[in-house]
Amino acid sequence: MSIIFSGIQPSGNLTLGNYLGALRNFSKLQDANECYYCIVNQHAITVPQDPQLLHERTRQLAAIYIASGLDPQKATLFVQSEVPEHVQLGWIMITSSYVGELERMTQYKDKASKRGDSIPAGLLTYPPLMAADILLYQADYVPVGDDQKQHMEITRDLAQRFNRLYGDVFKLPQILLGHDGTRVMSLQEPTKKMSKSDSNTTATIYLLDDPKDIEKKIKRAQTDSLNTVRYDTDCQPGISNLIEILSAVTDQSHEDIEKAYEGKGYGAFKKDVADAVISVLEPIQQRYHQLVGDPELDAILDEGAKKAHAKANVTYVKACRAMGL
Ligand code: ADP
Ligand code: NA
Repeated sequence: MSIIFSGIQPSGNLTLGNYLGALRNFSKLQDANECYYCIVNQHAITVPQDPQLLHERTRQLAAIYIASGLDPQKATLFVQSEVPEHVQLGWIMITSSYVGELERMTQYKDKASKRGDSIPAGLLTYPPLMAADILLYQADYVPVGDDQKQHMEITRDLAQRFNRLYGDVFKLPQILLGHDGTRVMSLQEPTKKMSKSDSNTTATIYLLDDPKDIEKKIKRAQTDSLNTVRYDTDCQPGISNLIEILSAVTDQSHEDIEKAYEGKGYGAFKKDVADAVISVLEPIQQRYHQLVGDPELDAILDEGAKKAHAKANVTYVKACRAMGL
């Protein structure tokens, strides 16, 4: 039995990328492992958020976790800000970090470059807080998307640095990539990852999108004029992204998909990608709409916070003792 930790920010509507890269692996792990799944609202506030929306999205994200198969009896589901050890150990991790290594993070560079002269300091200190999230639970594995590799490396570096200075407190966690590390790209700029913070909504498939919209978005997805369904991310990034999506939702290899569409046009291919995506998302949407207004959700999150706190506190106290705090 391993310990699993992962988190998602309540910072927008969840995308197909979040589902295929992270969420759908969560429920697969819950039977055989001790799992902690977190709604990382303190990561979300590293950029300004509307308070009312942040609150609603936190709740919606909890409902999405459960609608995608997470069973609160088998896994601990909780909200980051309800377990104070996250920011407490986060501060210790910040003091163990170097400005230079934080400035080198590609996510920081991407997000900071969009903020002109007013770069929120929390964007820079995001990775040490993420390290604290994971290390508090002594996690063995962290199921996240391929885009989080660099943050996982710095998490291990910070843990090792701490252990070297103060003794063996933290387990070194490993990234756990689902389905060969599926990375879903933007439908309109297929060299950029699909993200819930992208303002171009036609480039993004949201988990709660109406099936008609999903079909429209995929139909209009950027492709090329080569007219062959081939996986080649350099020459055909748009088609490759659609192959990757179809492969992830139907569990077929890229080669099998290429063969199946030999001599067929992009129209038929896109239609099949849309149908396959819709058939995966529809049942999730149905469960979501039943759950989201249910007061039982609050009870689930309260219970989750208690369990998470009990586990996190043990590690936090150990870290404090080791440092002389
Ligand atoms: P976003 O970048 O959409 O705001 P988060 O940073 O909250 O998403 O990430 C939540 C999880 O979803 C992480 O495990 C991340 O690796 C995964 N993820 C996000 N976008 C993608 C994508 N386009 N493809 C695959 N996985 C993704
Ligand atoms: Na992220």
